[in-house]
Amino acid sequence: MVFKDLKIKSRDITPQNIFERRRQLLKTATFGFVAAGLSTLSLGDAFAATEDNKKKLSSKLNEQYSVKDKLTSYKDITNYNNFYEFGMDKEDPAKYAKSLITRPWTISVEGLVQKPGTFDIDSLMKLSAMEERIYRMRCVEGWSMVIPWNGFALSHLLNKVEPLGSAKYVEFISLADPKQMPGLKSTVLPWPYQEGLRLDEAFNPLTLLTFGLYGEVLPKQNGAPVRVVIPWKYGFKSAKSIVKIRLTDKQPATSWSGVATKEYGFYSNVNPNVSHPRWSQSMEHRIDGRSILSPKIKTEIFNGYGEHVAKLYAGMDLQKFY
Ligand code: MTE
Repeated sequence: MVFKDLKIKSRDITPQNIFERRRQLLKTATFGFVAAGLSTLSLGDAFAATEDNKKKLSSKLNEQYSVKDKLTSYKDITNYNNFYEFGMDKEDPAKYAKSLITRPWTISVEGLVQKPGTFDIDSLMKLSAMEERIYRMRCVEGWSMVIPWNGFALSHLLNKVEPLGSAKYVEFISLADPKQMPGLKSTVLPWPYQEGLRLDEAFNPLTLLTFGLYGEVLPKQNGAPVRVVIPWKYGFKSAKSIVKIRLTDKQPATSWSGVATKEYGFYSNVNPNVSHPRWSQSMEHRIDGRSILSPKIKTEIFNGYGEHVAKLYAGMDLQKFY
């Protein structure tokens, strides 16, 4: 992954304005309901009530797993992407991912499970209640975003297929179709894009099977129709446009570690104390409307999610298992 100059300009776009308005609305509404001893109104409910957009996803805000940082605009989230199947430049996915066909779409879940299965995307989306999670996302290249994702914990799908006791890892495999993905001509990565997690990481409630952002179905450049999002790890762990999930007993090979093992380890937890061989990881540029010239912010260990995930790595040398 090559660090590129940030070329983001406009942040004044409708979806974020709508979202911020909903946030404001929610603050007032929540206070009112709590004061009256009634249940709270979610962001998703407020959105569903006010917007008439075919692509919207009705979901409830999960406050426990959401941060309150300023959001990155919809425009930046959807125009500054890494999706190498559609080109190397940050602007390429927004330009070229239109050729991705997202229906019909299935994910097969196989390997060391009691009940392997193939799930149609539209049924899969109904497997559990859709939540809204506002996550910090830190890219290994030194920038970060704050993204309101829509989805539910991956554990709901994993439980459905009943992992065997011998399963230790989960492998994610993205679509690789040269007819739809012009970037596959490049040899920058071995295709299909592959990522993996340890089984307990995959079952951590923060690991999100993701179908949307900003309350709408995922734009193609962000990994439609389904991806994973793992907010305490560098962004490249969050595989997009997934077609296969395989449970294994051996640590799976991953695309980036295959290309440069020293640079992209299997764990790749966000860690300011472990430098990338070619640059420090201690600071980040937050893309949230602040000027490109404003000072960088400090990167937090596990991207600030330590209270939820530090226990997964108790006793491990994080310099060694980077
Ligand atoms: N998944 C696939 N299939 N192909 C990719 O090139 N890029 C990764 C990850 N998932 C990538 C992928 C990288 S490097 C990052 S930083 C994030 O997706 C970017 O996600 P975003 O564009 O939605 O911010």
